[in-house]
Amino acid sequence: MSSDNLDAILSLAKRRGFIFPSSSIYGGFSSVYDYGPLGAELKNNIKKEWWRRVVQTNEDIVGVDSAILMSPKVWEASGHLSAGFADPLVECKKCHERFRSDKSREEGGAMGEKECPKCKGELTESRKFNLMMKTFVGPVEDDSAAAYLRAETAQGIFMNYKNVLDTSRVKVPFGIAQIGKAFRNEITPGNFIFRTREFEQMELEYFVKPEKAEQVFEYWKKERMKWYLDMGLKEENLRFRDHEKTELAHYARSATDIEYKFPFGWKEIEGIHDRGDWDLSNHAKHSGEELKYRDPDTGEEYYPYVIETSAGADRSVLVFLADSLERVSGGRTMTTESSRDEEIVLNIAANLAPIKVAILPLVKNKLEITSKARNIFEALKNNFMARYDEQGSIGRRYRRQDEIGTPYCVTVDFDSLSDNTVTLRDRKTMTQERIASDDIPKYLLCKLY
Ligand code: GAP
Repeated sequence: MSSDNLDAILSLAKRRGFIFPSSSIYGGFSSVYDYGPLGAELKNNIKKEWWRRVVQTNEDIVGVDSAILMSPKVWEASGHLSAGFADPLVECKKCHERFRSDKSREEGGAMGEKECPKCKGELTESRKFNLMMKTFVGPVEDDSAAAYLRAETAQGIFMNYKNVLDTSRVKVPFGIAQIGKAFRNEITPGNFIFRTREFEQMELEYFVKPEKAEQVFEYWKKERMKWYLDMGLKEENLRFRDHEKTELAHYARSATDIEYKFPFGWKEIEGIHDRGDWDLSNHAKHSGEELKYRDPDTGEEYYPYVIETSAGADRSVLVFLADSLERVSGGRTMTTESSRDEEIVLNIAANLAPIKVAILPLVKNKLEITSKARNIFEALKNNFMARYDEQGSIGRRYRRQDEIGTPYCVTVDFDSLSDNTVTLRDRKTMTQERIASDDIPKYLLCKLY
């Protein structure tokens, strides 16, 4: 993926309504982004596929949806309020811009710099800056009312570990999964939606007997890599990177990242961590609750170790856009207007595509054709994310759908009126098949899922 591909993604995201800067009429806000109609579909599809693979298809994994606000005691016990969850920061004494002092200038930081990378002003000594986002609960803004927006969804899972054990029929080994918002007061957010202060995580905490931790860690590493490949990402753009002991998060015994080759370098898209008994034992200590697991068969009591897989939903959106965006010069739809310039094609997996099928009447001024096309659309829309489009030439309409990754286009033409068939065009292969219009749902079901 070349660096001008990032510009192409930004341009597509804006032009076609995938992603917008937040509060844009006020000039945007602090690296925060909103998802537009197509972006919301894409992100939902990514989350749905993750849930299908992690929760729906595993009998030993259940899902929860915990609150963003939790007792501040959670974050004391988890270690997030102490130095472990803080980044080193320097500030320019002149322009007051802040930089991470553990990141290079290329990465937006000031590591090894004597002066401000922006204005050459003098930099302060490095100090630790905690990443938790603070707020107040209730009308009084004092320390007793302080609370924090969760910095990882994982803690909501640990808070429900005992509830799930007591109410479900799970036994170690088992997992609890969650998708939800997390917040970090990042010093240097950037690279579009790669690093933001508000983001969504898709996390699994899998509880195992300590002696099984290593084996299960290896299993989930492979399984999570396989998911990205099954979702259509190119193998050459993915790799594992093991953490050095010095860079491990405060809760981790060992960690491996799944990295993606972004235009700005290889970067983490998912972390796989062996959290040991860090969370359960610390929460037991701080809360006074018994959180040891009692094996119902042997009576053995122990804190299960936790193998965690933690992926970013927003980062995944960027990855799937980056990996599937192709620029085709010369015009693959062979229309006079498209042959003049380059076409953008989003070659995204059909199950992630925002729109699954577009219904296109060949002409818009023949009532029999438009009504037939509308009827087909009406029959499909309950089960498939379908769109009806009659604006512009058929070539232009194919281009519009290719650009947003729609895998199938159905064209209703004059022959459709006499033999009830339609042309079904496959974006990926560019093949066109003539099929009976009644067979479209069956065809789509078999291709999409
Ligand atoms: N519970 C473990 C945990 O939170 P992490 O490595 O800090 O681990 C996991 O984060 C994933 O969450 C990352 O791989 C990334 O995809 C996503 N993520 C973390 N910080 C982010 C940020 N500031 N903006 C967007 N995504 C972020």
